[in-house]
Amino acid sequence: MFRRIEITEADTVSVLIEGREFEVPAGISVAAAVLLCGFRKLRTTPVSGSPRLPYCMMGICFDCLMNIDGVPNQQACQIEVSQNMTIEYQRGAADLLRQE
Ligand code: FES
Repeated sequence: MFRRIEITEADTVSVLIEGREFEVPAGISVAAAVLLCGFRKLRTTPVSGSPRLPYCMMGICFDCLMNIDGVPNQQACQIEVSQNMTIEYQRGAADLLRQE
C-alpha cells in the first residue's frame, strides 16, 4: 500500500538535531525527520519529565513541541525541515518570555 520514494542526495537538507548533524529528505516535517534519525522523544513533560513522541502528526495533540531554530513551543509535525535548521528537545515547560 505504501512505498518509500527513492531519494537522491540532491533531495536532502542538512539539519542539526540535539547537536548532531543529519541529512534528511527535503519536504518532510521536523517530527518525521527526528523519528527518521532514530530519536525516541521530542519533548519531556513539565510535571514528571516523561518523554513524549508525536501522536497525531497533524497538528492536534501538541505532543511534538520542540525548540526549532531557537524558538520554543513549535509543533514539529507542522513545520517542514529546511537547510541548517537547528532542532532541540523541549525540556519541560518552555520559557515563554524569552529575552532576545
Ligand atoms: S504530533 Fe500531534 S500536534 Fe504534532
